[in-house]
Amino acid sequence: MIVLGVETSCDDTCAAVLRDGRELASVVASQDEVHAPFGGVVPELAARNHVVHVGPVIERALAQAGVGFEDLDGIAATRGPGLVGSLLVGLGTAKAIARRRGLPFVGVHHVEGHLLSIALDREVERPFLGLVVSGGHSALYWARPEGGWAVLGETRDDAAGEAFDKAAKLLGLGYPGGRAIERLATGGDAHAIALPRPRVRGAALDLSFSGLKTALWQAWRDSPEALPADLAASFQLAVVEMLVGAARRAVRATGTTRLVVCGGVSANGALRAAMASMAAEEGAVLLVPPLPRCTDNASMIAYAGWLRLRAGENDALDLNAEADLPLGPRVDVGTLDG
Ligand code: KG4
Ligand code: ZN
Repeated sequence: MIVLGVETSCDDTCAAVLRDGRELASVVASQDEVHAPFGGVVPELAARNHVVHVGPVIERALAQAGVGFEDLDGIAATRGPGLVGSLLVGLGTAKAIARRRGLPFVGVHHVEGHLLSIALDREVERPFLGLVVSGGHSALYWARPEGGWAVLGETRDDAAGEAFDKAAKLLGLGYPGGRAIERLATGGDAHAIALPRPRVRGAALDLSFSGLKTALWQAWRDSPEALPADLAASFQLAVVEMLVGAARRAVRATGTTRLVVCGGVSANGALRAAMASMAAEEGAVLLVPPLPRCTDNASMIAYAGWLRLRAGENDALDLNAEADLPLGPRVDVGTLDG
């Protein structure tokens, strides 16, 4: 079964082609240069650039895969959550191709795509614990044994990637900030600047990054002699320790032996190393996608869509884009069924 995937939920225009769940081609057209002068994604510019790039990106993906529209068996596109103007471009394009070619179509949840991105490279048995850390999301999910997802914890304010991006903006590093902070941090002392690791009272699996962001801003303002590399390294360590702490509590509470960490921030080397040590200490296997699959891509969307198409499911062509779209209900970790 050959499936085309399209992803335009934020600022990357992505298309991919899979055959039976294996990647034949994946193309990502980044808009980083468009948004860099603004220090963050400008929704209107993102949507307009998707309009320009989505057609050529799909054609490149098909050409790289060595297939034509006539070879496709189905189409999947991200339906949410994300920037609604951006989502509409990819979703509308995918639906138009599906209608023109008479192909089955499915709309995919962006975060489900991230959680399944690891499955393109290796099998992951359910149930598993998944930590999604990206520019728009930071949450812990339980992949239920029978299928479907439950939210075990989530950020109360910024996503981890958003915190990296804001820290980078403060330090004048441009957008996107995560990679720039990581690069600068390699030359810094992570213990030079004392920063807090805020916890949410009474919610062990929830996260909050706004206090850390404020503390970084205060340290930057009050210590003009502080080296940017030390600020970056200290900030990165604080985020890493907060994420590892929440993931460790969730591993213990669920008793799971499988931890998936995914989303753009999972490209961070310090986070990957710290998660690996924690997982080893807790007797769990850590599963992190290879770097190109950590950030947004269409292979993960095509994969999640393929699972549904393969089962004979499809969505009506009046399916709409949803800026806010929960992946599953919030569930207390103590009530999980296995
Ligand atoms: O998954 P993604 O590409 O898009 C969303 O769904 O949001 O994640 C993008 C986020 C950005 O905030 C970016 O700064 C962050 O992932 N990121 C990183 C790294 N690479 C990307 N954060 C920390 N370290 C990195 N190496
Ligand atoms: Zn994403």
